[in-house]
Amino acid sequence: MVDVLLGLQWGDEGKGKIVDFLAPNYDVVARFQGGPNAGHTLNIEGKRIVLRTIPSGVFCERPCNLIGNGVVIDPIEFLKEAKELEAIGINLRKKLKISQKAHLIVPTHRLLDAASEAAKGEEKIGSTLKGIGPAYMDKTGRNGLRVGDLQSPDLKVKFEQLKKKHLELLSLYNFAGDSGELEKKWFEAADYIRSLDIVSGEYFINEKLREGKLVLAEGAQGSMLDIDFGTYPFVTSSNTISAAACTGLGIPPTAIRDVMGIIKAYCTRVGGGPFPTELTDATGEDLRKAGHEFGAVTGRPRRCGWLDLVAVNYTIMLNGVTKLIVTKADVLNIFDEVKVCESYTIGSDEHKSIPFDITAAPIVPNYTTLQGWKTDHAMKTAADLPASLNDFMQYVKDKTNVGVSIVSIGAGRDQLVTF
Ligand code: GDP
Ligand code: IMO
Ligand code: MG
Repeated sequence: MVDVLLGLQWGDEGKGKIVDFLAPNYDVVARFQGGPNAGHTLNIEGKRIVLRTIPSGVFCERPCNLIGNGVVIDPIEFLKEAKELEAIGINLRKKLKISQKAHLIVPTHRLLDAASEAAKGEEKIGSTLKGIGPAYMDKTGRNGLRVGDLQSPDLKVKFEQLKKKHLELLSLYNFAGDSGELEKKWFEAADYIRSLDIVSGEYFINEKLREGKLVLAEGAQGSMLDIDFGTYPFVTSSNTISAAACTGLGIPPTAIRDVMGIIKAYCTRVGGGPFPTELTDATGEDLRKAGHEFGAVTGRPRRCGWLDLVAVNYTIMLNGVTKLIVTKADVLNIFDEVKVCESYTIGSDEHKSIPFDITAAPIVPNYTTLQGWKTDHAMKTAADLPASLNDFMQYVKDKTNVGVSIVSIGAGRDQLVTF
């Protein structure tokens, strides 16, 4: 069976840490969408590692790791990540398989991303500028290059054809940029990918399922950044919800067992776009400091705010979440009181659902105030959790109808409590 683990907010919920913790229970850990816009942080023996395209099961003995067809891979970024892992003893030739149907990001995709953002003026998406949007556009536009193409004698021709199209588009944007140096690196990195285990991901994973093996599908970004259901147009360019595990790996919906949804005990967002519970005051600053809320990929300060249960209930619905995981509960320890948004007031109406255009009218979040934990105990086991933190989790369960199965109370690998 397949369990899916994904973020229910705007990304950076702590997916990497939780996948690393759960990985010993699985035979395969598979990424199914996104690309190097993701930054999944793991703490392995005191060392901080940020994974971008490679699944977060690589540090665990048991699972094999798969980059599924739904992912977009930039060979240059991939090689950097792979070299860092190899330097600390991870043998990717053994630990990793890559779907031949995963699409490739080429250097001109990055230029197109920059050109598109520049053309947006004030209303920038705040993209990570990794070429994600343009690469998915070429996928759906039926122009893309795939990992399997790296093994084709026509690779150079296909690459040049795509580049030509991109240069024409860039000239329409009137965008000056040079991809020459990156191109050389791209072909060197492509040689490296060719030396890895390139497979038919869908046959590989379905064979594992037939053998009764367990698969953990690792989401990237968060459901509020989903291309269909997120705060469009301030979203990423892939479907990030549980349904994307099927299309991004080639598995049937009936193979899915649990959907584990991760929320931070508060909320963050990087880049532009609506964020109803954002705190632009000193409290927001306190959250950013206590939670070290700076982007794992770009280093950008993350916008911080209180937990938004209108958004969480929406994404629980979209994903069919069966288990909730709450991370960064320790960060809220600094507050006497914590707030949780239960509904929005828009105009004179109260809403418990996400409106079509969340940017159109000012949204006033309606909060319930709960007692903070303010504990000076080390929280190691369920018995150490302060009553007010247990009350917070019970409150979340009451409001979402989904129980909390893990609470994370620190960045370290074992700093969590399971129920
Ligand atoms: P991901 O993209 O969902 O994997 O999350 P990121 O790695 O981008 O951001 C999560 C950040 O919070 C990382 O720096 C983690 O090391 C850190 N983190 C994860 N869980 C916890 C937690 O329970 N407490 C604290 N304080 N930090 C955590
Ligand atoms: P992980 O997997 C947080 C955001 C960007 C931007 C928007 C579009 O680490 O949770 P893109 O590069 O996809 O064109 O950017 O989406 N974004 C993320 N925010 N975590 C992520 O990934 C993100 N990946 C993209 O900041 O607002
Ligand atoms: Mg991240």
